[in-house]
Amino acid sequence: MRVGVLSSGGDCPGINAVIRGAVLKGVIAHDAEFVGFRRGWRGVLDDVTMPLDRRSVRGLAKMGGTVLGCSRVNPLGADGSGPDRIRAVLAQHELDSLLVIGGEGSLSGARDLAELGIPIVGVPKTIDNDIAATDYSFGFDTAVEIATEALDRLRTTAESHDRCMVLEVMGRNAGWIALHAGMAGGAHVILLPEHSESIGAIADWVRSVRDRGRAPAVVVAEGFQLDSMRDPYAPHGSDAAERPRLGGIGELLAGLIQERTGIETRSVALGHVQRGGVPTANDRVLATRLGIGAIDVIADRQWGGMVALRGTHIVRASLSEATGALHRVPPNRYAEVAALFG
Ligand code: F6P
Repeated sequence: MRVGVLSSGGDCPGINAVIRGAVLKGVIAHDAEFVGFRRGWRGVLDDVTMPLDRRSVRGLAKMGGTVLGCSRVNPLGADGSGPDRIRAVLAQHELDSLLVIGGEGSLSGARDLAELGIPIVGVPKTIDNDIAATDYSFGFDTAVEIATEALDRLRTTAESHDRCMVLEVMGRNAGWIALHAGMAGGAHVILLPEHSESIGAIADWVRSVRDRGRAPAVVVAEGFQLDSMRDPYAPHGSDAAERPRLGGIGELLAGLIQERTGIETRSVALGHVQRGGVPTANDRVLATRLGIGAIDVIADRQWGGMVALRGTHIVRASLSEATGALHRVPPNRYAEVAALFG
């Protein structure tokens, strides 16, 4: 069998480990050959490829980023010509399938193409952990480790200066990174996109921390909204996929907290640092297992399928199951941690 591989959407630590797992299992167990497409769907539509054999995946498990490159490009194309172009490129390279490593947006595009009869299998990829059908996605563990370390560091300087510190983390419309890094780092307030709060309540929590003689630590997800806001804070316009570019809520909150409480407050937006660098050991293992599992799904010609983690098992799921709704922090997880705020 001949398989085209692409990584689509934003990058994420662990993509290279998926590629390595898929290529090794494909070569060893299925006598498969691979073609890598550069920069996500852009590379498929423009037919830009790179060799992907056993030699080219050596040492990849520990490498951050993606050797294939990635982009946020809609595979359907603005004029709807994408599917025909993709079929033509597959035929030209004599590929019988495509392995798409992508986040929620990319897997939705892959689902639409699979419904049009294009032979696609997906691997869920995102630091946001917001893909339904899988308990965890690779990249999330690495992002949480990075955010937790940042919070630990911010807390020592905050204590020295007797300041309030606000740490803004990524996650789009899901608060998983904020929840896990905030809990791990012992934040006094954790603000998630799933649950709005008033500035009054936040200021009260911050004041009570200060009253106990501590330096208040607030973790806020980029998609968090104050109860007075109609939309998440996105002052930087839209991205290539025409989604709002989130970021800046931490700085906004820091100003409001200082104004309300009189406590000197600083903010740090961690941004893309959370997506960079080497994946954690957990993410390498998960990504490798997903790559191995995905190639078996391709060998069984289960088009429109994907691999997922349920408990400790790698299972098969469908792209439509994964893209119906976002995997967001449930109310009981917020209530559990909110009981400790202040
Ligand atoms: O989906 C992953 C993610 O890192 C989000 O957490 C964040 O909102 C977004 O991508 C940033 O995208 P870009 O790299 O296009 O700025």
